[in-house]
Amino acid sequence: MCGIIGIIGKQDVTQHLVDGLKRLEYRGYDSAGVATLINGAIERRRAEGKLENLVRALEAKPLAGDVGIGHTRWATHGIPNEANAHPHATAKVAVVHNGIIENFQELKAELTAKGHVFASDTDTEAVVHLITAYMDEGLSPKDAVAASLKRFDGAFALAIIFAGHHDLMIGARRGSPLAVGLGDGEMFLGSDAIALSRLTNRVMYLEDGDWAVLDKSGVEVFTEAGEAVERPVRISDFSDAAVGKGGYAHFMLKEIYEQPQVIGDTLTGFINPALRTITLPDLPFDLSTVTRLTLIACGTSFYACQVARYWIEKLARIPVEIDVASEFRYRDAPMVAGGAALFVSQSGETADTLAALRHAKAHGQHILSVVNVAQSTIARESDATFLTYAGPEVGVASTKAFTTQLVVLACFAIALGRAKGAIDHEREAQLVEALVEVPARASEVLNHDGRLKELAHEVAKARDVLYLGRGTNYPIAMEGALKLKEITYIHAEGYAAGEMKHGPIALIDKNVPVIVIAPTDELFEKTASNMQEVIARGGRVIFLSDVPGAAKLGNLAAATIALPQVDPFVAPILYAIPVQLLAYHTACIKGTDVDQPRNLAKSVTVE
Ligand code: M6R
Repeated sequence: MCGIIGIIGKQDVTQHLVDGLKRLEYRGYDSAGVATLINGAIERRRAEGKLENLVRALEAKPLAGDVGIGHTRWATHGIPNEANAHPHATAKVAVVHNGIIENFQELKAELTAKGHVFASDTDTEAVVHLITAYMDEGLSPKDAVAASLKRFDGAFALAIIFAGHHDLMIGARRGSPLAVGLGDGEMFLGSDAIALSRLTNRVMYLEDGDWAVLDKSGVEVFTEAGEAVERPVRISDFSDAAVGKGGYAHFMLKEIYEQPQVIGDTLTGFINPALRTITLPDLPFDLSTVTRLTLIACGTSFYACQVARYWIEKLARIPVEIDVASEFRYRDAPMVAGGAALFVSQSGETADTLAALRHAKAHGQHILSVVNVAQSTIARESDATFLTYAGPEVGVASTKAFTTQLVVLACFAIALGRAKGAIDHEREAQLVEALVEVPARASEVLNHDGRLKELAHEVAKARDVLYLGRGTNYPIAMEGALKLKEITYIHAEGYAAGEMKHGPIALIDKNVPVIVIAPTDELFEKTASNMQEVIARGGRVIFLSDVPGAAKLGNLAAATIALPQVDPFVAPILYAIPVQLLAYHTACIKGTDVDQPRNLAKSVTVE
């Protein structure tokens, strides 16, 4: 969380810093700030709240300078105000930081005792003062940073500039991501390649523990142990078009509408349509030897794991354990020797998921991952990675990343089933055919957008909303509730439809919309009975089913959406789309900030 950028440029850098921060605002928007050097002296502009406030501050008081750093904040230590906004600075050093310095209290006490005066409540200020203290002792900027890095506990990505040094910027990372951009006579640092997409497409990803000394002509990279090291330069494929809204009112809506395309792109990476088989990338171990699988993720990616558990248990007949990363990491779960763990993450940088991955690795598990960002830390630290081809997802509410994760996990479940000898070629071919149909059916689902928009008016009036589903559509119920909560701030819960009668049914009255997700699968009749129980108690049901399901029961519900009928195997991929649209339109009616909902950030790089 928090986005950072740094530029050593040929001319004034402030406008480029602000452009980069616009691309990073999805990482946090509690405050924003920039610092540059003007005639060798550090100058800052900072503002509480969104980037537009910083832009106004810069219009009122412009900032020149050919070297500078910028930050967009997701608050951890210290409330979101101007004093806590980055960059933090002394007369000698200015720093932007993403992460948490866990031992900042001890460092602050030590530095305060030496006479340093802190001006904020942040952990980051300890970084600035420690580097300054080493420079006060006579160390060069580079040596002062090297000495300071050894003293920090916790996670950080840092960009640092120094008064009097127009041709120097230092970056460092541990835990949080950081990329170096290579220009022509100018150099850049950024939290990700998206931040740098207008400046350069030549990007070097720092490894964990690396730190980098940049000047206008190049970069020297050092490992945590201080050894000089070469890191590969890659060509980033983020274009401006891919990170723009493309004429849609919000990124979220654009990303919902991209789903038929990106689901197709993702399938292409795994399916052989002629043979009707699944092909996985090469694995460093034999899938047929896996006897138990652990699936770990956070948030929406965790719901993708929940769907995958049903698929894998059914098709591969092996037990699957799932957990949210923040719990798995600390519950000391026993892990079988030679077992496999699969981590799912859009960003590939989520701190909880990464910590869980490292924990599983330390316990001898084979590490697999499903990520959307090929160069992310989770991808790099996995034994094998299955990529989703969703393209950059900017809206904080995950949409196309979720459905493409489901596609990859469906392919993985089929491949595992085949490797375990639990399904034959004929079954594999049927499942592949069902998957191949998904992009076209997803386009048909989008045709219901207008009706979902009408229904959103009813949802927008509610204080609580319930979502019900069974089997693979139970996680879709929870995902629908999460989408609604995070962008509309309406309380919502997703339940296994059969669980209603064990408590939540007490909530039902005419003011609580109940979204029932029930394609005609083997559980349809059971879910239908639960829907009747809700209706009998005065509940107003919005019924999401398929054409036969709607024909059978649509007259009972207050409103019905009849989606195309598909193989039940792929239904959860399609039923994710109407719950996304319902949440989206409800948020628009309520006037909330759809792409940047309060208190959230897209990439959660703190534990
Ligand atoms: O990048 P990741 O997939 O690891 O992110 C995990 C969650 O933070 C993320 O899915 C979050 O729950 C979304 N805001 C949900 O829309």
